[in-house]
Amino acid sequence: MRSIVRPKATLPAAWRMALAAVACAWLVVAFGAAPAPTPSKTPPKPKPAKVKTETAESLRPIAEFDLPPPQRKGKVSLEEVLASRRSARAFRPGTLTLAEMGQLLWAAQGITDPENGFRAAPSAGATYPMELYLLTPEGMYHYVPRGHRLELLDRRDLRSALAKAAAGQECVRDASLDVVIASVPARTEAKYGDRAARYIYLEAGHIAQNLLLEATAMGLGGVSVGAFLEEEVGQALGLPKDQYPVYLVPLGHPQ
Ligand SMILES: Cc1cc2nc3c(=O)[nH]c(=O)nc-3n(C[C@H](O)[C@H](O)[C@H](O)COP(=O)(O)O)c2cc1C
Repeated sequence: MRSIVRPKATLPAAWRMALAAVACAWLVVAFGAAPAPTPSKTPPKPKPAKVKTETAESLRPIAEFDLPPPQRKGKVSLEEVLASRRSARAFRPGTLTLAEMGQLLWAAQGITDPENGFRAAPSAGATYPMELYLLTPEGMYHYVPRGHRLELLDRRDLRSALAKAAAGQECVRDASLDVVIASVPARTEAKYGDRAARYIYLEAGHIAQNLLLEATAMGLGGVSVGAFLEEEVGQALGLPKDQYPVYLVPLGHPQ
């Protein structure tokens, strides 16, 4: 990963100010950040991102489902949710309803600004490099944010295979829903080059936290899992070669 290059302290003050102005302007172009001083030179425009929002060709859906529209009002405050969230690793057996799954997925990656396609979790340059895969006792699904839909990809229960790739963690095997957050780095690399590697991990954190907070608000529980072998998870799920699992979030009714 490249480190940020800083101008040497020995540069004349006028040069340092010019460099700072160019850097601020780049931030505004890239992120739509707060107003910056007028740049002395126009920075190069970032390349447009290739934003793919559908399942990769190799994962052909067997069936598709519309998810129920998400609730926009909860029964507990954000502060109460923050104060009570705790990792849960033991779950009651059973499945979640489509409405429960839809609510969790909306919090993770749902489109909250249909006009611009912006989602519930922030994304560097709105490049949205993540795909969410869902393992349940009834099969493996893929979440499609546009249209708030699920695609059924596999009718097998793959939770045990996923748990095996995650150091045999029982919470992964026993969860009613394992959310696999997988990245498609090319989407963010198209705009940010090497810095994409950093952004992808930050974004996975946003998504996982949204899932855990929404689960807590719904009376469910879950845990973020980072201990797994990337390649084994990719193989167990049959993920396309350009996608990499970054984070697992087992969820369910806590025991
Ligand atoms: C990056 C990351 C990776 C983690 N990986 C695992 C894991 O593989 N297995 C697990 O049981 N918990 C995992 N956790 C959960 C932590 O153990 C947990 O958050 C911590 O003990 C604090 O407890 P709390 O979540 O209840 O506040 C992970 C947490 C983070 C942030």
